[in-house]
Amino acid sequence: MRMNAGQTFNFFPIPTDIHFGAGILKTLPTHVKALGTHKAFLVTDPGLKAAGILDRVVSLLKENAIEVEVCGRVKPDSSSSLVDSAAQELRQSGAGVVIGIGGGSSLDTSKAVAAMATNPGSCTDYAGINKVRNKPLPIIAIPTTAGTGSEVTYWAIFTDEARNLKLAIGSYLIYPTIALCDPELTLNLPPAVTASTGMDALAHAVECCTNNACQPISRALAIDAVKLIGLHLRSAVLNGSNIESRYGMMLASTMAGMAMNPTRLGLAHALAMPLGSWDLHVPHGVVLAILLPLTMEFNHLAEPDRFVEVAEALGQRVDGMSRLDGARRAVEAVRALARDVGIPSTMSSFGLQERHIGPVVEEAMKSGNIPVNPRKVTAADLEQMLRMIL
Ligand SMILES: [Fe+2]
Repeated sequence: MRMNAGQTFNFFPIPTDIHFGAGILKTLPTHVKALGTHKAFLVTDPGLKAAGILDRVVSLLKENAIEVEVCGRVKPDSSSSLVDSAAQELRQSGAGVVIGIGGGSSLDTSKAVAAMATNPGSCTDYAGINKVRNKPLPIIAIPTTAGTGSEVTYWAIFTDEARNLKLAIGSYLIYPTIALCDPELTLNLPPAVTASTGMDALAHAVECCTNNACQPISRALAIDAVKLIGLHLRSAVLNGSNIESRYGMMLASTMAGMAMNPTRLGLAHALAMPLGSWDLHVPHGVVLAILLPLTMEFNHLAEPDRFVEVAEALGQRVDGMSRLDGARRAVEAVRALARDVGIPSTMSSFGLQERHIGPVVEEAMKSGNIPVNPRKVTAADLEQMLRMIL
């Protein structure tokens, strides 16, 4: 690996205590009690109730003499009013810990709710970086998808109801206190969700290790995440009961989440927030899965060496190739992976139309992911990219 001897960097270790392994969910009561409380506020979505996971978790807590109040109405990209009303319920409940269980929306909502329980006003007041002033209640994050990495990040994304726009709270204070990563919880995920969330994790890893803010520590985590996803995503989608693949994907998702905290991401994630706003509700993972090969195609020309590393991590042979040809192998490998796991190539079925392009590009260009992108990008470049997926 080539070194940039002139680079100075910061890697802040995450404060989250990560417990990882098949069946690790059963340790949840121990962690709740270690936090000094016997009452939990659980944030989740209706899908977890339907899957039987919510009842299992509630029974586990009650059998261990832990009271639990459930907020089970999280929707994809929770609204600001849901976050604010759940925070009010949390304050009234007297719970001493917030447990978030589910996909990225449930985990992000639990982080925002825990923060709003100890900070005045509305969650919309805290959109941006490090605006949370008071320490939130402790958070235990339990992912049931392998993609967002929210269990180890300092981001909480929700929708500002007044503007119908996705916003993010970014704060060192909202890192989960504990992450319980149990790959068994993903065994029954449908193939389409496994595919799109897995491609989100790949986008985190690839954007992190190819952008201008990347440094050796994040890169090590991100490149290993890319390797794991190359090895395990296809089998996790095609044979969901394969625990080894589920283990590999959850590990990749958590590692990519840790990697990206200090680096931000790139073009695909800059576009993802507005593509989930207004009347567009393209699931985050689907946005990333469709956009990642396109943005890699655009970016690989600027920093081919970084993309050669991605190609190698995905098992591509690049010996004897030019740097550019090797870099193109990364683009081709990601495109093939997206195709093999059944990702659509356009967003037309999600309602994306020509009229959306201007507002999406305008919002995307404001993103903190734009300045770190490996290739300088203009609004016209983004417009052209979006027209390719109409
Ligand atoms: Fe993402």
